[in-house]
Amino acid sequence: TPIPPPDLKSCGRATISDGPEVPYTCCPPPMPGNPETIPYYKFPPMTKLRIRQPAHAVDEEYIAKYQLAISRMRELDIKDPLNPLGFKQQANIHCAYCNGAYIIGDKVLQVHNSWLFFPFHRWYLYFYERILGTLIDDPTFALPYWNWDHPKGMRLPPMFDRQGTSLYDERRNQQVRNGTVMDLGSFGDEVQTTQLQMMTNNLTLMYRQMVTNAPCPLLFFGAPYVLGNNVEAPGTIETIPHIPVHIWAGTVRGSTLPNGQPSYGEDMGNFYSAGLDPIFYCHHSNVDRMWNEWKAIGGKRRDLSQRDWLNSEFFFYDEHRKPYRVRVRDCLDTKKMGYDFAPMPTPWRNFKP
Ligand code: C2O
Repeated sequence: TPIPPPDLKSCGRATISDGPEVPYTCCPPPMPGNPETIPYYKFPPMTKLRIRQPAHAVDEEYIAKYQLAISRMRELDIKDPLNPLGFKQQANIHCAYCNGAYIIGDKVLQVHNSWLFFPFHRWYLYFYERILGTLIDDPTFALPYWNWDHPKGMRLPPMFDRQGTSLYDERRNQQVRNGTVMDLGSFGDEVQTTQLQMMTNNLTLMYRQMVTNAPCPLLFFGAPYVLGNNVEAPGTIETIPHIPVHIWAGTVRGSTLPNGQPSYGEDMGNFYSAGLDPIFYCHHSNVDRMWNEWKAIGGKRRDLSQRDWLNSEFFFYDEHRKPYRVRVRDCLDTKKMGYDFAPMPTPWRNFKP
């Protein structure tokens, strides 16, 4: 049986991953009606494709728009903390789906470590992008992608490193600033190498996760997750580099946060807080792009055909604050969803170990 959309009435307290209870509720704002009566989402008529660009290569005009959209989203929180389009409410979506706020069957819902990982985040970003576009009245607005699979993108994109702007987050590891090259394979430990060696290692890792280790759908997407049975086995890209990028960008567990509280990896390094860093959506934009790139390699690299996957559902608010149910089967083609990625070379394809 596929995973149904979460029942909002069952939403309760969430738990910080390897930590205490989340000190606030991350359930979505109450809505009229029952989940069964929430309509299925239909794609609105399309005008022009939204084109997502590599974050390291965007121009100042784009940066200004993006900053404005995020500040407006942050302002919504101040005017009405229960506006589902607000910055914190959008971040809470991740907390609710990943930190145990929902019960499905008799287990807590967790969209990570399974084949729900790619489709859940695709839909999440889809609505997030449309909300940002609406806030600046630009129906063509597209999120950038953090192009960490290319040497030019293997560092924090500079626009996120401008202190005092809406794209900055105080709760990042300070070591990620000023162009430090990232290690896509690290779960927290540091290796001393040259920048060039690090980039080469990263490309080799990308080849391994996209090509060698993911010759068929279940290895790429992750293990089946159906009602009452979740074996918790993530796909190749979810494990590496997706998780290392989260850990790299968040504060070090056990260190002290700017507000004096102990760190559980905030923001990027914990499910409940990851969406509070604007870089989260840029990171996931590239994860999403990897789904397309993986299919483009060919062979048996196709979408899963299991009905339990295709018919799994989530629930989101759209840019008009209307709640909708969405199905995995409707998110397999990004062009049909109205967006695509500006092409970038994929040098990892030549890094067969
Ligand atoms: Cu839902 Cu990158 O985690």
